[in-house]
Amino acid sequence: MHSTLTSIGLVAWLLACQAAAQSSEQHPLLPTWKCTTSGGCVQQNTSIVLDKDAKYAQGAPGSRTSADYARMGVATSGNALTLTHYVRSGNQLNPASPRVYLLGPDGKYVMMKLLGQEISVDVDYSDVPCGENGAFYLSEMKPDGQNNAAAGTGYCDAQCQGYCCNEMDILEANARATAMTGHPCNGNNCDKGGCGYNPYASGQRNFWGQGMTVDTSKPFTVVTQFQANGGKLSSITRKYIQNGRQINSGSINTCGSEASTGGLTGMGAALGRGMVLAISIWNDAAQQMAWLDSGNNGPCRSGEGSPSNIQNQHPGTHVVYSNIKWGDIGSTTKA
Ligand SMILES: *[C@@H]1O[C@H](CO)[C@@H](O)[C@H](O)[C@H]1NC(C)=O
Repeated sequence: MHSTLTSIGLVAWLLACQAAAQSSEQHPLLPTWKCTTSGGCVQQNTSIVLDKDAKYAQGAPGSRTSADYARMGVATSGNALTLTHYVRSGNQLNPASPRVYLLGPDGKYVMMKLLGQEISVDVDYSDVPCGENGAFYLSEMKPDGQNNAAAGTGYCDAQCQGYCCNEMDILEANARATAMTGHPCNGNNCDKGGCGYNPYASGQRNFWGQGMTVDTSKPFTVVTQFQANGGKLSSITRKYIQNGRQINSGSINTCGSEASTGGLTGMGAALGRGMVLAISIWNDAAQQMAWLDSGNNGPCRSGEGSPSNIQNQHPGTHVVYSNIKWGDIGSTTKA
């Protein structure tokens, strides 16, 4: 009798646990590091959350399981995040094209305050072909999404998807081309074209690619610094570290009209208030990423970057980001 009651109690407890687990989304852990010059880097208990509109994930935001993340092409391992564009289901290849955000242990988005600071990330773009965009960027979303809804809600960007907000594209790239672009907004007046730096468009035709100065067939570290002067953003600079070698790249020193969209000052003010780290992989039929990688912008041939070509020729298209660190200038790449 006693043991039967105990078993019933145990079953009830297990069922209660299962219900609790089902009502809270399993956010894949992705530890990151916050660094200071004096204190070094401290591991943060961060995780990632899929955007609420993720197409092929089952379940509403707040109830997704790790299987839903896998179906959406999202996998984490240690401090590495892999985003896969096409995911096989039976004999179908579904375009998952995931977008995720960095969450803090409190379930709110991590608000990165990067004015006068830097952010570094190790990347592997070797399997990201022409027409594809592995994007690592910041949007000025609200810490708890919209109206305290579940994590994964409240997306915004400077193209006014969701709603209009400041966006800093730290890295938009594939194995053949790369750009970093500021997109400040003054209210709903956003700099949609943005102020960009693309080495190929700047005449460095052998800088970014397989076997080039930055060899995209292998992993490397990307360091982006938001230099401030008198509390204002003065420049955005980029360097790479590959095989222990530091490679300095370009900088952005001006960003359109301060009077209309806010310019570099507006971008810096948003970085000072805090922005949310968004990471995605995507392609598009209309522009085929020509603004990033073909014509004057990169070596990709017209048509090479169409989604159908990518799906046929590069069904395994994926990008890996790892070892995300942010903090004082110079602090994130110290041994
Ligand atoms: C991360 O979690 C561990 C274990 O709960 C805790 O000891 C550590 O202080 C946390 N780190 C931060 C930065 O909060």
